[in-house]
Amino acid sequence: MSIQIPRGTQDLLPGQTEIWQYIEKTAREICLRYQYKEIRTPIFEHTELFLRGVGDTTDIVQKEMYSFQDRGERNLTLRPEGTASVVRSYIENKMFGWANQPVKLYYIGPMFRYERPQAGRFRQFVQFGIEALGSKDPGIDAEVLSLAMSLYKELGLKKLKLVINSLGDKESRMAHRNALIEHFQPRIGEFCGDCQNRLEKNPLRILDCKKDHDHELMKTAPSIIEYLNDESRVYFDKVKQHLTDLEIDFVEDPTLVRGLDYYNHTAFEIMSDAEGFGAITTLCGGGRYNGLSEELGGPETPGIGFALSIERLIAALQAENIELPIKKGIDCYLVSLGEAAKDYNVKLAHQMRSAGITVEKDYQDRKVKAQFKSADRLEARYVATLGDDELANDKINVKFMETGEQVQLELATFVEQFKKLQA
Ligand code: HAM
Repeated sequence: MSIQIPRGTQDLLPGQTEIWQYIEKTAREICLRYQYKEIRTPIFEHTELFLRGVGDTTDIVQKEMYSFQDRGERNLTLRPEGTASVVRSYIENKMFGWANQPVKLYYIGPMFRYERPQAGRFRQFVQFGIEALGSKDPGIDAEVLSLAMSLYKELGLKKLKLVINSLGDKESRMAHRNALIEHFQPRIGEFCGDCQNRLEKNPLRILDCKKDHDHELMKTAPSIIEYLNDESRVYFDKVKQHLTDLEIDFVEDPTLVRGLDYYNHTAFEIMSDAEGFGAITTLCGGGRYNGLSEELGGPETPGIGFALSIERLIAALQAENIELPIKKGIDCYLVSLGEAAKDYNVKLAHQMRSAGITVEKDYQDRKVKAQFKSADRLEARYVATLGDDELANDKINVKFMETGEQVQLELATFVEQFKKLQA
């Protein structure tokens, strides 16, 4: 049997790649407007980075990482997400010393998680994400959220739901943690092994257990909102006020805890509300991660960001029947009639392309009719026909496909004349 693509990955073919490029271009343009600059970090990192960054009791670290040893016996992992890498790079490159603060970065690239593949869930997927490092102004929480919403809206999505929560600061989280332990401890025997391990280490993780999520104690678990101290509450109120000022609709969900350990204060997800969208409706997730820099050996640095996958974004576009305005067609198709004309068109195509014109020609020795068919398929705006006779007379025939109008041009100055014709 021939070799097949690994489970949970996909080939993106012409026809699809144009959609990806359009989305990526839109994301880059929006980042420019918001002044987020691109960062490119390695596809693999030391495993330790994710153990400490994402958290060793999370599903991502415990079950989903692609880890391996290289020939030098280093423990490495294909990155499951981008935030830990960005913060590692921020520390390593001393970005905290840069003149412009906060440091605002974005990335677009593949991430890897060993999850059970299904609609909207891949083992290799592409995240577009942003991170703002060095500010604890609630205004930047609103900026980060508004950038994510802008991308979706500018691509035409309408059926979106923004869900937010606050996980509070260290003190609030500690109070909540103790309440969770008290809540689950008496009946922890009814939960899976993972949950039992998490009770002391990280009881918040019990709340996003996929196995036990229907257990009655899940529904009655103490909510973080009740444990927010004054400072955390004021912070959260300010973020919500900003969102209201920006006319960004949101709903609060005190059960939103996110699956990574580094979060505190603002946490959010953007869901698709579109009918017929698959079971996995989260398009985007993010939040604040003050303290992650310290955890990774860096200076005290507040941070906030989000990531969204292009795969789920495209699924949402499909669910809302949105077709992106992708430019189709080529400027000119060169039809050759005879050996000499065919050879000449190799050079002519090169000259036209050098002048910035999109050109295609036949390489299959097709009949003239079939060459015109190819031109139609490629949605050529002009077809230039060169026969051996025209070549002998230094002429070339050009047809404007929209109107059927035809002109004969001088071959020697064809490229300049063609450009004028287009203008
Ligand atoms: P996350 O919630 O793990 O957060 O992932 C963010 C987004 O990546 C999800 O909302 C989803 O769109 C996409 N995603 C995750 N797993 C898959 C998958 N298996 N297949 C397709 N898409 C997937 C993070 O990764 C954080 N680093 C986000 C962040 C940035 N927080 C602060 N800054």
